[in-house]
Amino acid sequence: MTIDGSRITIFDTTLRDGEQSPGCSMNVQEKARLARQLDRLGVDVIEAGFPIASDGDFAAVEAVAAAVPRPIIAALARAARNDIERAAQALHAAVRPRIHVFLATSDIHLQHKLRITRRQCLEQARASVRLARSFAADVEFSPEDATRTDPEFLAEVVTAVIEAGATTINIPDTVGYTVPLEFASLIRRLRERVRGIDNVIISAHCHNDLGLAVANSLAAVAAGARQVECTINGIGERAGNASLEEIVMALRVRADQYPYITEISTEQLYPTSQMLEEITGIPVQPNKAIIGRNAFAHEAGIHQDGMLKNPLTYEIMTPQSVGVPDSKLVLGKHSGRHALSLRCEQLGYHFERRELDEIYRKFVVLADQIKHVLDHHLLELIRETYGESHRMPPSRVESERASAVAAGAEEGRKLFPTGVSSEFSAVSLPVNSGSEHHSEQEDYLWGV
Ligand code: KIV
Ligand code: ZN
Repeated sequence: MTIDGSRITIFDTTLRDGEQSPGCSMNVQEKARLARQLDRLGVDVIEAGFPIASDGDFAAVEAVAAAVPRPIIAALARAARNDIERAAQALHAAVRPRIHVFLATSDIHLQHKLRITRRQCLEQARASVRLARSFAADVEFSPEDATRTDPEFLAEVVTAVIEAGATTINIPDTVGYTVPLEFASLIRRLRERVRGIDNVIISAHCHNDLGLAVANSLAAVAAGARQVECTINGIGERAGNASLEEIVMALRVRADQYPYITEISTEQLYPTSQMLEEITGIPVQPNKAIIGRNAFAHEAGIHQDGMLKNPLTYEIMTPQSVGVPDSKLVLGKHSGRHALSLRCEQLGYHFERRELDEIYRKFVVLADQIKHVLDHHLLELIRETYGESHRMPPSRVESERASAVAAGAEEGRKLFPTGVSSEFSAVSLPVNSGSEHHSEQEDYLWGV
């Protein structure tokens, strides 16, 4: 097999490991729907389920295989005849089927869970991969709890399963125990020690118990892994799996450090995340990287001021690049006058500098009491202070909007749609609109 050294295979296990998160189970129709979206996203492999686990899982693997012909469809199996046969049956309609066999290799698992010896483990691994190869040309093997396995024994097992025909060797950090340097050296050590390893794909499968799943996956890539296993929104057993969107965007944004490519259409990241949230009802944490509600929201005055002048000051990727409609400047107690003034204009009110000072003073007092100042709060505050005297004629409001939108479109960076009925009062601004505002220095101070 020839392996493209710069191409990273994205193996999505949202429908299998992800589904193992409490509260994340999905029915067959939901899995097929999400699989179609994963296909649009461009993942290379969809792990659709664990067919021996239940009739529902079996049906889901069948349905996903029928629904999406392009990606490889993987089905999970323990290293046991019944499991492997059931996985092969569930994959009958797949254009590109993969059987994924796993067997624990750490002494902790061998002694306390499986109650077998290392020798028995080695033989079972070898025999089950041979059996899987009799059903499919594409067989992945995972030594479960690899990162707590004696590295010498791990190398022995990996050598045996490659000889038996495994085409991908996945190294799972099943309990999220490893750290990046250690994981990278484990991958390097296997590459040095295991005969035939250059002819297979090495994969990383990291759990997030120490919050290191993405960092460990990237370390594995740097050490030679060419497949990463991950889930949308990072869902999965316990603290979850490595988050697909974070890995993909880290590879893309820091291509200088990671000179690798994926086939992911990054604009589909946010729609996919939203679909999963809708299907499972499990909300994404607001500060979740890439796809969280706050990932492109700016509240601090200093940050808002920078964003208004040039989004490069505080954004390392555009929201559009990950499918998020726009950046948000949220009006809260850390916001500056610059953002406040523009929001007022979008709401139809224009103030001269001194008048705005008065609004701003009241705004800061209010923002200290309530977390986020909504449009209706701001309107009340304006009306209490100045009544309707500063209302702009409708034609001017429209032209302010049009020029804001045009300037934003020109830059490809419209920050926030005007008139948006968001949860917060948020600002839509053209880039580089700072030239008409002369007190940036003061805004910095207000914003601190
Ligand atoms: O975490 C793990 O070890 C797994 C294997 C089945 C790959 O999910
Ligand atoms: Zn796992």
